[in-house]
Amino acid sequence: MDTAVAIDVRLARALREARHVAVLTGAGISAESGVPTFRDALTGLWATFDPRELATPAGFRRNPKLVWDWYAARREQLREVAPNPGHDALARLEARVPRFLLATQNVDGLHARAGSRRLVELHGNIARVRCSRERGRIVATWDEPADEPPRCPSCGAFLRPDVVWFEEDLPVDALVAAEDAARACDLMLVVGTSGEVYPAAALPQYAADAGACVVEVNPAPTPLSRIADHALRAPAGVALPALVRAAWGEDVMPA
Ligand code: APR
Repeated sequence: MDTAVAIDVRLARALREARHVAVLTGAGISAESGVPTFRDALTGLWATFDPRELATPAGFRRNPKLVWDWYAARREQLREVAPNPGHDALARLEARVPRFLLATQNVDGLHARAGSRRLVELHGNIARVRCSRERGRIVATWDEPADEPPRCPSCGAFLRPDVVWFEEDLPVDALVAAEDAARACDLMLVVGTSGEVYPAAALPQYAADAGACVVEVNPAPTPLSRIADHALRAPAGVALPALVRAAWGEDVMPA
C-alpha cells in the first residue's frame, strides 16, 4: 500500500478552521480492515446470489433461512476484523472539532469500536438482531433452530438482522440528523462510498448546496466527484491520517 498522500495546504487549513464537520462513510473505509463488501461476501454457498436477492424483504420472505445464515456468517467474519487507521483518524478528528457528526452506511460497527461517538448508522448494524414484525424489538439472545431462523420470543415472527435492506426506509432519526448536519456543516468528508445508493448519496449535495467544502476520499472517482472541492485519491487508511496530521500536526496511532 502506498504510504504517502499530498494534502493541499488550503484543505488542511479549511479542516483546522472548520467549526462543524460532517462525514459520510461507505464500505471503502472498512476495506483495509478486511471487511468484504456485499459482492466479496458472496462466497461459498452464497456465491451464486446477488445481494439484491438476499438483502431485501422479498429475499427474506422467499428464503429466510438462507438470508439468516448469510448474515450469521458475516457476523462471524466481523469477530476477526478490527478498525483501521482510517476509522481511528475519524475518531481523533471528532475530538478536535466543536461540532461533528459521522453518518455511516456501514453495518460493521467498526466506527464505534474505533471510538467514534457522534455517529449515526444509516443502514443499521449487523451485530443487532430484531423481530421481523416489530422493527424496534431488539433481541439479544436466541436458540438456533436447524431449518429456519430463530423466532421472536414475543410474537413468534422470524428474527432478522437489524439492517436496512434495499426497498426499506432508513431509521428516521439517523437520516434527519445526517441531513441536518450536511446542511449545517462547513466541511464534509465523503469517504469510501460509490455514491450510488440513496438517500445517503444525497448528503454531499446538501453540503455543497449549503456552501460547505466537500472532500472525497476514494482511490477511484465516483458520481459524487463532480461536487467535491478536493479529492484524495488514496485509501482511507492512508489519506485520513495524513489529513489529520496536515491539519493538526499530530500522528494517528496505528490501529
Ligand atoms: N479507501 C477508500 N475508499 C475505498 C477503499 C479504500 N481503501 N477501497 C475501496 N474504496 C471505495 C471504492 O472505490 C468504492 O467507491 O469504496 C467504495 C465502495 O463502494 P460500495 O461497495 O458501493 O459501498 P457503499 O458505497 O458503501 O454502498 C452503499 O449499498 O451495498 C449497499 O447498503 C449497502 O451500505 C451499502 C450501500
